[in-house]
Amino acid sequence: MANLRIAVLISGSGSNLQALMDHCDNGIIPGQVVLVISNRADAYGLERARQKGIATQVIEHRQFSDRRDFDIALQQAIDQAEVGLVCLAGFMRVLTGDFVRHFQGRLMNIHPSLLPAFPGLHVQQQAIDAGVRFAGATVHFVDEGVDTGPIIAQAVVPVLQDDDAQRLAERILLQEHRIYPLAVQLFAENRLLVEGRRVSILYPS
Ligand code: GRF
Repeated sequence: MANLRIAVLISGSGSNLQALMDHCDNGIIPGQVVLVISNRADAYGLERARQKGIATQVIEHRQFSDRRDFDIALQQAIDQAEVGLVCLAGFMRVLTGDFVRHFQGRLMNIHPSLLPAFPGLHVQQQAIDAGVRFAGATVHFVDEGVDTGPIIAQAVVPVLQDDDAQRLAERILLQEHRIYPLAVQLFAENRLLVEGRRVSILYPS
């Protein structure tokens, strides 16, 4: 099976990055993370990547006066690494249409809500405030909207009576670490078929 080369974009802790790297290391994902890019120099995820001997780059959005120029720098760095998949993992920047179109079909994101409910920021608090009984996480292909692309995998967690945003976020994060590697594994195995907004999972017959 082909060995998928993966770039991961982060802004912070990088626990999803860790899950992806671990699942590559143990062979569950037939691929490898070859490049980690952060828009923040202090992102702990950079340290996680270095510990695995994976190439890192810091491309700080603040150094660019224009969103487009930042995205062009990102795109060039990723293209140089010749990757087949780009994973956004806690990457806190909205990408331009040009960037998204360039990587269409090979650009994934993880979001800590059951999309299409609660796109955007502070979604755990939004879920609590809305009084929903269940929250969760979604892995999706990225399109030009914010958290709107075709859904690959979701996981559900209960919202408990005494939850605050932090506790709920921790419960969701555990599921993120399960479904992001699963989605990347299916992609790496060529088992995702996208038709419009729907993603089917193919099973060997
Ligand atoms: C995750 O909840 C992710 O879904 C959200 O930001 C958080 C990042 O966590 N977009 P980490 O950096 O992977 O630990």
